[in-house]
Amino acid sequence: MGGTPAETRRDGSGALKVERRVPPFWDRPILAIESSCDETSAAVVVGREVRSNIVASQIEMHQKWGGVVPEAAARAHLESIVPVIQEALSAAGLEKVSAVAVTRTPGLVGALSVGLSAAKALAIQWGVPILGVHHLEGHLMSPWGDPSLEGLPYPHLCLTISGGHSEIIQVTAPGEYRLLGETLDDAAGEAFDKGARLLGLGYPGGKAIQEAAIGGNPHRYKLPRALRDDPFHFSFSGLKTAMLRLVQVEGSALDVRDAAASLQEAIVDVIATKAMQCAERTGSSAVTLVGGVSANRALRDRLAGLCAQNGLGFVVPPFSLCTDNAGMIGLAGSMRLAMGERGDLSMDVSPGDSLPGLME
Ligand code: KG4
Ligand code: ZN
Repeated sequence: MGGTPAETRRDGSGALKVERRVPPFWDRPILAIESSCDETSAAVVVGREVRSNIVASQIEMHQKWGGVVPEAAARAHLESIVPVIQEALSAAGLEKVSAVAVTRTPGLVGALSVGLSAAKALAIQWGVPILGVHHLEGHLMSPWGDPSLEGLPYPHLCLTISGGHSEIIQVTAPGEYRLLGETLDDAAGEAFDKGARLLGLGYPGGKAIQEAAIGGNPHRYKLPRALRDDPFHFSFSGLKTAMLRLVQVEGSALDVRDAAASLQEAIVDVIATKAMQCAERTGSSAVTLVGGVSANRALRDRLAGLCAQNGLGFVVPPFSLCTDNAGMIGLAGSMRLAMGERGDLSMDVSPGDSLPGLME
């Protein structure tokens, strides 16, 4: 990847003008496959247009166990992968594509292997290139699936908040990243999921907490905000423990609506406060919010309001591209293919490689 031209220039009057750019995208159809955790998904992406994006969720199965059981997840992917791919192709009106992009890392090894094996077989059958995609780069690229997004200034901040990640990443150029901070223990999505389990709201927890919190008092129960003075790092394990204690201490007197609202507020408050501190410290002019937790309305609204107050651009992906899906994998694949990258048929999955293009 080459260097990038200066992002800020002075206009005729001498004022600083922030330039917005769009990453390069491949202009031919790509079949994208995602199977890293508990969603089997296939999509067709052309350029940055997500033509189809089919997601078969294993949520019902994992609800029985209160979480994802890796071997059960892999076997459920085996059942769904072919119909999901067929549906994605037929919804896009195509029988074959010009490349296959597939999540290769990070994730559950057995689950990833199902998607990668299918991708290899199709790439061989069609005689087209294959490209392994990093799941996190899929989330990072998800805002580009919104056709109304005309461009972003570089560098900008990306809050990557999901069930497995809580990271603040500076996107310095398309495909180039700097990790500014991350969680020291659990991800924000885990705090939502654990909280929902404790409140008897089921799995996955984020959406359940959001719904239970409607009309609740977010200040009823005092919950901790960890690492207040550190703009770059998160810690959510203390919040999980505090929720457990709250449930134990209050017992049947606990107001589930207020508890859900208080938990959501604690998570939203921490993320939004850090994002603003971090944007100020790094001189960022725009913030994106991605990952499953970006579907949370309270978080979107809080960040949108604070960014507007502070003169920052704010971008979130469409809801269909927030939680795990192959559309976002296709967008990351489209950018990497346009940059000339290709995978090879002997590639393996990995439970946790670092993000490509990550700089020290
Ligand atoms: O990105 P994702 O689908 O999977 C990972 O890569 O981890 O994120 C899943 C996480 C789960 O923890 C789920 O509870 C959370 O995203 N989530 C939400 C919402 N929808 C999903 N959290 C808060 N509010 C939501 N509406
Ligand atoms: Zn994810």
